[in-house]
Amino acid sequence: MAYGNNITEILYGGDYNPEQWPEEIWQEDMRMLKKAHINMVTLNVFSWAALQPDENTYCFDKLDRIMEFVRENGLKVCMATSTGAHPAWMAKRHPDILRTDADGKKRKFGSRHNSCPNSPTYRLYAARLASELAKRYKDYDNIVAWHISNEFGGECHCENCEKAFREWLKEKYGTIEEMNRCFYTDFWGHTFYDWDEVVLPNLLSEHMEWDGQEKTMFQGISLDYRRFMSDSMMECFKLEYDAIKKEMPDVPITTNLMGFFKLLDYQKWAKYMDFISWDSYPQPTDGPAVTALNHDLMRGIKEQQSFVLMEQTPSVTNWHPYNRLKRPGEMRLLSLQAAAHGADAIQFFQIRRGIGACEKYHGAVIDHAGRDDTRVFREVTALGEELQTLGDAFLEGRTPSETAIVFDWDNWWAVEYSAGPSVRMKYLDAIRDYYAAAFEQNIPVDIVGVEDDISSYKVVIAPLLYMTKTGYADKIRAFVEQGGTFITTYFSGIVEEHDLVLPGGYPGELKDILGIWVEENDALPEGEENAFIYEGNQYPADVLCDLMHLEGGAKSISVYEKDFYQGTPVLTKNHYGQGTAYYVGTRSNAEFYRHFLKNIFQEAGVEPVMVTPEGVEAAVRENEKGRTLFLLNHAVDSKQVVLDRNYVDLVSKKEYRAGEKLELKGKDVVILSAR
Ligand code: GLA
Ligand code: ZN
Repeated sequence: MAYGNNITEILYGGDYNPEQWPEEIWQEDMRMLKKAHINMVTLNVFSWAALQPDENTYCFDKLDRIMEFVRENGLKVCMATSTGAHPAWMAKRHPDILRTDADGKKRKFGSRHNSCPNSPTYRLYAARLASELAKRYKDYDNIVAWHISNEFGGECHCENCEKAFREWLKEKYGTIEEMNRCFYTDFWGHTFYDWDEVVLPNLLSEHMEWDGQEKTMFQGISLDYRRFMSDSMMECFKLEYDAIKKEMPDVPITTNLMGFFKLLDYQKWAKYMDFISWDSYPQPTDGPAVTALNHDLMRGIKEQQSFVLMEQTPSVTNWHPYNRLKRPGEMRLLSLQAAAHGADAIQFFQIRRGIGACEKYHGAVIDHAGRDDTRVFREVTALGEELQTLGDAFLEGRTPSETAIVFDWDNWWAVEYSAGPSVRMKYLDAIRDYYAAAFEQNIPVDIVGVEDDISSYKVVIAPLLYMTKTGYADKIRAFVEQGGTFITTYFSGIVEEHDLVLPGGYPGELKDILGIWVEENDALPEGEENAFIYEGNQYPADVLCDLMHLEGGAKSISVYEKDFYQGTPVLTKNHYGQGTAYYVGTRSNAEFYRHFLKNIFQEAGVEPVMVTPEGVEAAVRENEKGRTLFLLNHAVDSKQVVLDRNYVDLVSKKEYRAGEKLELKGKDVVILSAR
């Protein structure tokens, strides 16, 4: 389990910064945390400058007092390493730690999450600090996990990074000829004869701004830069990881991720993390499906294991353009939605609101009033009580999914680096189209990577799988042959992992499985649409229309209604082996995806968790204690849910019979155990 096997309760707490406060306040904090049923704190997230005043001096006095104090008060600790923001003196004396932007501008000291990941200074001192901390605090048995740095991200274009990039390429390609082949440097005569001729792809070299987006003229090298930057930061993570493991081999280590964060290949990172934790800050306009999808991605990157909700705001953020308050009940709803999708711990940023700098208006458990009778504090307390009652009922519980959606970071980068066919083609839109349709029908979905085993699923959906990595088509082929249902969409199967087109007609190696070949792709500008009719309903064809031909036994289910390709297939079905493969040659609207997937799920025998009224989400976790059902009313009005079997409410202990109606108030959640 996330926080280790001996944890038998839901850990509840968050980022706590007592170093910003006089010690008298600490006592008051403890009184309030106890009242709120908070049982853990994340400490030491941003204290590097305080802990290390120069190259060779460490001063842990204050942290010692904090650690003692927190232990005396019975709190568990998620211990951060503080390396998310380097000290000012370090930047002044060792400027290699400062990043260089994509336009060649060298940064000065300031902000955070901004150390060059290939800086020898950063690597040396970050790993050393992690090691010093681990040596000092290894006997604290209330440390339940280590939290390395904070929200790794960004990128660097400095000379150290450029040198490291060349090494990375050498290691990957072995010969310059192979690199030239993969980068397709015969185009525009960009052939390299020496590794040192390679420069970073950025706004000074191969990149340009194009319709507000950064695009590249050579996708191969740009993709490799993304991979290299992600690897460079992962290397920093690993250096600290190893330093801590040496002292405390049994305590799990994480770093806080950010859901669909484009710059880091979290599927790769997850292999080196003991458990996944992530920070969820949905925009007020994000619907429940968007948040659920993020949770499912975070569960999916590490073999569908449970994770930690490392941060969420109890009430409000400070960095959205409009920092709307979470309405009464909303914080509880979002917390329990995280639990429903795999979270074993619920934590906040932050415990006490600071009084200065840019996060002073960010929500906190204890706000500026410092009182325990605020709306937010009361809601935090009520949730704490509820989580305590739930105990370990669903801890480590798995999501029983029969449907998987494929998501791949390389593909994300490649689709959006692609010069053509359309700037409107967004990978996440394509993922969300299908996910939302399943979500609204209470169909549990696993988000899987291309390396994951898919043989146990009934339905696998790979939206906009532009890049088909070597061997992936075989995995899909075997899945469909053995009876699986596979769906893919427009602009899929086009390139291999270097972004080189697989010639012979699109979708490359997937053609035989789908029984089609695509000849052209028509990109529609905003406001222009084609259409198609599916089971009597007309739906829009938007963004991209693939013009395709049937081959072998595939059937056309629907055709385009307009334009010179009117009457040609847009939606096809092919029986292949024991299974079925569908191709959806365009982007449509939410009604279409709901309609289409409803049929697919029925045909493939995929059952919803439960049938609920609109706005009510039903999600399940299963562990050795049984099946826990979460009913979450995302709507503001009350809803009646007809229960499918006997249940007991895990909090109120109320019993329900199958067929009984359960009344769920607006924004309310009930957690039931199947009997
Ligand atoms: C991030 C960071 C925190 C804090 C919050 C504010 O998630 O990790 O340090 O800045 O955002 O929302
Ligand atoms: Zn750098």
